[in-house]
Amino acid sequence: MTARKKLFLKTYGCQMNVYDSERMAESLKDYDQTDRADEADLILLNTCHIREKAAEKVYSELGRLRDLKEAKPDLKIGVAGCVAQAEGAEIMRRQPLVDLVVGPQSYHRLPELEAQTRAGARALDTDFPEEDKFDHLNRRPRAARGPTAFLTVQEGCDKFCAFCVVPYTRGAEVSRPAARILDEARDLVDRGVRELTLLGQNVNAYHGAGEGGDWSLARLIRELAKIDGLARIRFTTSHPNDMADDLIAAFGEEPKLMPYLHLPVQSGSDRILKRMNRGHTAEQYIRLIERIRAARPDILMSGDFIAGFPEETEEDVQATLDLIEAVDYGFAFTFKYSPRPGTPAAERAQMSEAEKDDRLYRIQALIARQQRAAQDSMVGREVGVLFEKPGKFAGQMTGKSDYLHAVHVNAEGIAPGDLRRVRITGSGTNSLSGDLIA
Ligand code: 5AD
Ligand code: SF4
Repeated sequence: MTARKKLFLKTYGCQMNVYDSERMAESLKDYDQTDRADEADLILLNTCHIREKAAEKVYSELGRLRDLKEAKPDLKIGVAGCVAQAEGAEIMRRQPLVDLVVGPQSYHRLPELEAQTRAGARALDTDFPEEDKFDHLNRRPRAARGPTAFLTVQEGCDKFCAFCVVPYTRGAEVSRPAARILDEARDLVDRGVRELTLLGQNVNAYHGAGEGGDWSLARLIRELAKIDGLARIRFTTSHPNDMADDLIAAFGEEPKLMPYLHLPVQSGSDRILKRMNRGHTAEQYIRLIERIRAARPDILMSGDFIAGFPEETEEDVQATLDLIEAVDYGFAFTFKYSPRPGTPAAERAQMSEAEKDDRLYRIQALIARQQRAAQDSMVGREVGVLFEKPGKFAGQMTGKSDYLHAVHVNAEGIAPGDLRRVRITGSGTNSLSGDLIA
């Protein structure tokens, strides 16, 4: 029997990369994971290409690995994820220490590619195969899981927003068949999972094959909700144009679907939304949120914004601030526009970094006020909390509320995976505190 090898896996970017990393680790059956790069036999960087900084980080990380490789010539270094997809051949050329490059659609070939590197070759696969890669990612026997898990249901995007690399790195929109997702969900619940977050770059465009024809995301959620032991369902990330009526209704009708929705709009200016190729206006987005709130009045809204998109004027920034005022977000993320090679907006006239920064800070300041107000407004309310782990202080347990706020409680007898009612009594910097309701 050969000795087991060690895998150091570093994940950048979105939750889908976290999910993919778990599947990759499971597929490398001769490896155990380590959190120490210096004792690894294989180092895999699962990369993100969404903004410039993310890609730069990968190159500087590769630079730092040079010493390790010199000290241990047997060490293999691999790059996975969206930077691998976009720049695989270039990485191979620029970084001789990289042995393996694998794009997000080829993870089922990872064991084979790893074997090629052991035989002394360099291996690259950035194809977009037809089959479902997850079918071929064989699982290891059932390790226990924490109370929360991600589950990819859909991948890729056909929207082609003018700033975004996802349609190029993750490819066309593909939905996994419903039966596979239900099987995977049941397996996760058997292993201790109580909350599932369904993942997709365009998750609400889900239309996977199911009994009686294609299923919508709402149908999939209704079927998942029938699994005993599964307590909570969330999904991310959605596009406003794919918020179907049955999905909106599900927020009011399905108690396991949590009252939290991440629905990026990117800008509040119709002129910029058009240049971004978003396919909707600010008014349509605001009306949509009114309908969602009619179905589920307490829902907490979350969004993404881009500051400093090409040709954005001061008036456009004001329109974004107005939209944020109108919606009143519980959480939101603002990114400085980053020109991505190969996307249409990267070819347009860019503004200075200082100007982008100024806009970023103004949008962030408004969002920070709203986030704070939303969190503070929880004080005095009764919420569900799914406990995940012990808190920083003795006797404390921490978990997430229905609305995704971190909550600490001091109480005996709570275990990870317990879902309890909690009365919120305090609002701190980044979390709430509360007492169990008997
Ligand atoms: N520059 C800045 N932000 C971007 N995003 C996507 N592409 C870019 C880019 N080129 C942001 C969007 C998206 C989130 C995941 O990342 O807001 O919703
Ligand atoms: Fe990118 Fe989202 Fe637009 Fe698709 S919908 S192109 S993933 S920003």
